[in-house]
Amino acid sequence: MSSNEKPMQIPVVTIDGPAGVGKGTLAKKLAQMFEFNYLDSGAVYRALSVKALKEGIQLYDLDQLIELASQLSLEFPQQEGFAAHIDGENIDASLRSEECSSYASQVATISEVRKELLALQRRFQAVPGLIGDGRDLGTVVFPQAKVKIFLDASCEERAQRRYKQLIAQGISASFGHLFDSIRARDERDRARSTAPLVAAKDAMVIDSTKMSIETVVSSSAAYVRERLFME
Ligand code: DC
Repeated sequence: MSSNEKPMQIPVVTIDGPAGVGKGTLAKKLAQMFEFNYLDSGAVYRALSVKALKEGIQLYDLDQLIELASQLSLEFPQQEGFAAHIDGENIDASLRSEECSSYASQVATISEVRKELLALQRRFQAVPGLIGDGRDLGTVVFPQAKVKIFLDASCEERAQRRYKQLIAQGISASFGHLFDSIRARDERDRARSTAPLVAAKDAMVIDSTKMSIETVVSSSAAYVRERLFME
């Protein structure tokens, strides 16, 4: 590279926001459209939790948690719908249990664990580009990202969406319970001292409370195109 050539920047698009807002759906659609790599950073915390639960590691066993975090390796292959894989095995379903959600939201408050997981997440920045979703991708993991979106929606709306989704799958659910659990996770994510859930200063904030997923996807895609390819 000659001295006046700039090093190539692999484009990164971050989509942060609270639980149940549809970040994953949006990020996967964008990754498909732009043929970019995909990172579900929530799955990183969840995968660590599944392993810790399996090995009986408690939340106060910091050394063991850090050791586990340093060995974690995950993939999200596009041909498998971006489902989380470890060593070629689809582990996505095992990440969604209530036990795992609760452990993950607690393990995510430990700053040493978050620090240990940074390198793993940053390795996903690979050609031709990355679309990632989470809570702190635009603020901590990829502060230099070219495009940052913060997707929001009211707590009632997110609980309602989840309720409808479960009922449509034939799973019985209580709206009140879903609302309380979403609100509790929000509070934990927003109040923690390390990497709290907050929109990056340079993020475009989308309040999707009254928007359809199609409108959210089309306006986000137009924004990504403009920021990445037209400037
Ligand atoms: O998005 P999710 O529900 O799959 O995330 C699981 C947990 O991990 C959630 O409680 C918040 C935490 N998390 C985080 O702290 N930082 C991220 N970038 C992604 C998820």
